[in-house]
Amino acid sequence: MQEEQGDGQWLLKIPTQIFIQVPMKIQNIVCIGAGYVGGPTMAVIADRCPHLRVTVLDINADRIAQWNSDHLPMFEPGLDAVVARCRGKNLFFATLTPELIRAADVVFVSVNTPTKTFGEGAGRAADLQYLEKSARFIKPHLKPGTIIVEKSTVPIRTAQALSTIFSYGQDGGDYPILSNPEFLAEGTAIRDLESPDRVLIGSSSNEQGRKAAQALADVYAHWIPKERILLTNVWSSELSKLAANAFLAQRISSINSISALCEVTGADVGEIAHAIGVDQRIGPRFLEASVGFGGSCFRKDLLNLSYLCEAEGLKEVAAYWSSVVEMNDYQINRFIRRIIQVQFNSIAGKKIALLGFAYKPGTNDTRDAPAIRIATGLLKEKAVLTITDPKALDNARLDLQGLEGTVHYEADPYKATEGAHAVALLTHWPEYRALDYKKIFAGMEKPAFIFDGRNWLDHQALFKMGFNVYPLGKTPLSHI
Ligand code: NAD
Ligand code: UGA
Repeated sequence: MQEEQGDGQWLLKIPTQIFIQVPMKIQNIVCIGAGYVGGPTMAVIADRCPHLRVTVLDINADRIAQWNSDHLPMFEPGLDAVVARCRGKNLFFATLTPELIRAADVVFVSVNTPTKTFGEGAGRAADLQYLEKSARFIKPHLKPGTIIVEKSTVPIRTAQALSTIFSYGQDGGDYPILSNPEFLAEGTAIRDLESPDRVLIGSSSNEQGRKAAQALADVYAHWIPKERILLTNVWSSELSKLAANAFLAQRISSINSISALCEVTGADVGEIAHAIGVDQRIGPRFLEASVGFGGSCFRKDLLNLSYLCEAEGLKEVAAYWSSVVEMNDYQINRFIRRIIQVQFNSIAGKKIALLGFAYKPGTNDTRDAPAIRIATGLLKEKAVLTITDPKALDNARLDLQGLEGTVHYEADPYKATEGAHAVALLTHWPEYRALDYKKIFAGMEKPAFIFDGRNWLDHQALFKMGFNVYPLGKTPLSHI
């Protein structure tokens, strides 16, 4: 689609074979939203483009103070080093400041777009209030021609709503709007940003839109091979993001559905994942059976996709995608039920240790972590919980505050499991493989149960130590 000319100029080759000279240059970038996406993404842009000035703005002054401190607001491998290289040089963090917006050639909007909790579409539609508030805040301060980039994950045609907001009024219409969704995964965000499978930039097909898309592509081209920078129309870009998350989540629900069948038939879900994953048409990734997917996006984006389909009258399509969420809920509930049933249908007063609370290893993020639902379910049965996690204990405390029942938070996994009737592994942190399970077994009540919600541990070895082992999608190893 694109060809480089001399002195860094780009030509955009559009399907009609017309070539348009693109002179737009970006020097000053502002991002609204200093969260899990805005912060790391801007840090990597600043790191890879030392000639650019990058400023990240947020409404949350505490978060900005953390970004400006030695304790960044999130744990993300490699992030500290990237920030240390650029902060104060060409990377800045500040609260919303009109003068900084006025200086911007590009404004990324990377605010949260959670599931709506009220009114029409509650529990399914995306809540776009933060996006709209950001747009309304920045609009009066923009200089003409500033490129607006939707970084947040949004429903298809959100760019149209933004365009209406920006074009309203006397100076309206001179702000090209691009869709540039983010595909990073937490825990590997820096690697994903430094070497992404693709960067997607959607624009309108008019000359202004194409020039803006090319100017943004030029920024990414400083470190990303050109063939990985995909230019599409804006609606395809917006919908590709929802579709990508839906496809990834669908694979997890598919393998989790098979895990349930394995448990009643004697098949082994690990062997099945391997057998189907070596088929090059399927591939091995995202086939790990688990206690369920979590994180701030899969559930939210699936529900949003399903809601959008329903709103367009596509009932069958809506039902198809919401079934991926239903399967995830089923898997989480199945795990809770098993913990109760196996322990003689009674866990009241029994200590159960949860190994891991984050929704995946490599992050302190607990948003929509299966651990929240599992802890809630076990507390309803009056179990006494001890939660341990190498990074996420503070968030766990916040997630479970106000729940009825007894919950202890313990950084040391040995103390956490001391006196427990059962251990449930919920996050596959590498350090949990290296624990001394003989020591853990010795300190537990007997019979001692272990529920491996990630198929992460050596089940035969645990069984030999005396544990009753309940993996996912495999025959239990029980002494009882
Ligand atoms: P987040 O909650 O971590 O960060 C959002 C930030 O926006 C917060 O710091 C909040 O204070 C700020 N904010 C909200 N309203 C504001 C306003 N009006 N002005 C200034 N700041 C405002 O969210 P996140 O995880 O970074 O996700 C952001 C978007 O990126 C979402 O749409 C999400 O779906 C998408 N996304 C997230 C991930 C991920 O791994 N977390 C990956 C890809 C895409
Ligand atoms: C996911 C996508 O992978 C990113 O591409 C996307 O940008 C991001 O969502 C987003 O839009 O927020 P993330 O949620 O950070 O990233 O992490 P994943 O690695 O996708 O894992 C999500 C959940 O699925 C975790 O709970 C993980 O444990 C679970 N999972 C993953 C499985 O249960 N089995 C698998 O085989 C893979």
